[in-house]
Amino acid sequence: MKNFKLIIALVTLTSIISCNDKRKPQLQYMPDMYVSVPYDVNGVDGVNGNPVNLKPVAGTIARGGHPAYDIPDTNEGYELSKENLNPLEVTEENLANGKAMYEIYCATCHGKKGDGNGVLSQREKFSGIPNYKDRDINAGTIYHVIMHGKNLMGSHASQVTYTERWQIVQYVEKLRIDLAK
Ligand code: HEC
Repeated sequence: MKNFKLIIALVTLTSIISCNDKRKPQLQYMPDMYVSVPYDVNGVDGVNGNPVNLKPVAGTIARGGHPAYDIPDTNEGYELSKENLNPLEVTEENLANGKAMYEIYCATCHGKKGDGNGVLSQREKFSGIPNYKDRDINAGTIYHVIMHGKNLMGSHASQVTYTERWQIVQYVEKLRIDLAK
């Protein structure tokens, strides 16, 4: 009987001590039933608490996005770009937005007409800005030059979206035809 009391006392004591520490998580039975293993991107995984940094699979395109432009900024890349066609149809809307974007981002150097006589050219801030009609360019190379730039001209890829770039291309081709008239 004496032993029995002792056992009761010990059990009570142990349970008080073992349940007392509220700061530490208690033992969890089958933790991934509570904390899912599929991870929170850039969070921690539910099992080991290791940081997770899930990157999209290489070549993945965001929903509603467009393929990455992977033609390199080399002479071969420039030649290769000649084969790219403008995916946009020629419409008044595309041309109008192309014009608007062109006048914001390109006309300062290239001039409103594309003759190379923009404000920065007039003020002699930039030299060697061509007249579009003197260059053997097509939709693919114009897009390529917007993406990568060329010599003194920097890349404009980050200023305009995929669609805007092709709208600008359409407009530059129109300017080029008008200049040749
Ligand atoms: C800061 C001045 C500047 C701006 C802004 C600029 N360009 Fe240029 N661009 C140049 C210069 C300089 C060249 C000549 C590069 C060379 O061939 O050496 C050039 C060349 C070009 C060419 C001819 C490339 C070839 O293959 O011969 C195209 C097409 C062109 N630019 C389109 C654009 C478009 C479209 C924009 C606007 C999105 C733009 N540029 C903005 C300075 C500029």
